[in-house]
Amino acid sequence: MSTAFPLTRTTRPVPEAERAARLAAPGFGRYFTDHMATATWTADAGWHDRGIGPLAPFTLHPSTAVLHYAQEIFEGLKAYRHPDGSVWLFRPEANARRFIRSARRLALPELPEEDFLASVEELVRADAAWVPVPTGEESLYLRPFLFASEAFLGVRPAAEARYSVIASPAGPYFPSGVTGVTLWISGRYTRAAPGGTGAAKCGGNYAAGLAAQLEARDHGCDQVLYLDSAGRGTLEESGTMNLCLITSDDELVTPSLGTILEGVTRDTVLTLAPDLGLTPVERTVTFDELRTSAADGRVTEVFAAGTAAVITPVVGFKSDAHTFPIADGTPGKKTLTLRERVLDIQFGRAEDRHGWLRRVL
Ligand SMILES: Cc1ncc(COP(=O)(O)O)c(C=O)c1O
Repeated sequence: MSTAFPLTRTTRPVPEAERAARLAAPGFGRYFTDHMATATWTADAGWHDRGIGPLAPFTLHPSTAVLHYAQEIFEGLKAYRHPDGSVWLFRPEANARRFIRSARRLALPELPEEDFLASVEELVRADAAWVPVPTGEESLYLRPFLFASEAFLGVRPAAEARYSVIASPAGPYFPSGVTGVTLWISGRYTRAAPGGTGAAKCGGNYAAGLAAQLEARDHGCDQVLYLDSAGRGTLEESGTMNLCLITSDDELVTPSLGTILEGVTRDTVLTLAPDLGLTPVERTVTFDELRTSAADGRVTEVFAAGTAAVITPVVGFKSDAHTFPIADGTPGKKTLTLRERVLDIQFGRAEDRHGWLRRVL
């Protein structure tokens, strides 16, 4: 079975001047490149029709399964242009493997790791002109996704699924600098329960989190930090990022896996922690412990970790009952050092001692 994604080049690319204007101020998720990767799976024929072609809308029958039963998964990773012009992916194998785990949980077909990698790499090669030359943290964000495309009504795994990868140039996540965010602890909404889909990257998780996001906004917070669903008051993760605490005795503490997403950035900072003199610890942390430790100085810094924003300093928390800052309410020094360390590896400014980068161009 071939794993190549042959290219059919678009005859109508975005004009060069227009592309340059978009790359000059890309924002996030606003503009898309000229091509997309696609592949189809059917229960009878397995994976077939792999290719890279012009970016185009899908035509779907109104009964298409994903529109009714949300049988869908996705991934998010970036391509980085290095100072010598070469283009690299950061740990794409980890995304490929998580895509397989998510597929299993959503009863979707598993896309082989080599197909995931080939589709992403071929798309980046086809749209090389869209990989920004960074003046700050600009990169090309890649969005692989897989959905139930069979047209029928009825609750069962679909016998047809469509895979695709689209790409979108991404600007610095914090246009005004890394100032830090305040997280809302919802007493009303939770994200995941044992046995549920919390560890999978499926669209339904994000749809279910939107009401909590609105609640956070109504309370003047930037994002939600979810607690466990059993009422134990333990910290889970934020809407699109994993949570990490730094303690006064130099531990980097992050909630254990189970009902949270196994973040690639989370694993990256756990691996890099010893370089900064920090001991990585995965354990349960309660909101009460966070609150008292922030007050008595045992927790000195907090940050959130994810592909889009890399590392986001968390400067305070708010709940119905409590509002408190972390330290003096400004981004922590070790957080900012860790952030630079990750970016330096991704953008080729520091040695890749862990073999995390994969060259595409
Ligand atoms: C719910 C959630 N948690 C954590 C993360 C961070 O994962 P990663 O570092 O792989 O981007 C993401 C982003 O993908 C996410 O959506």
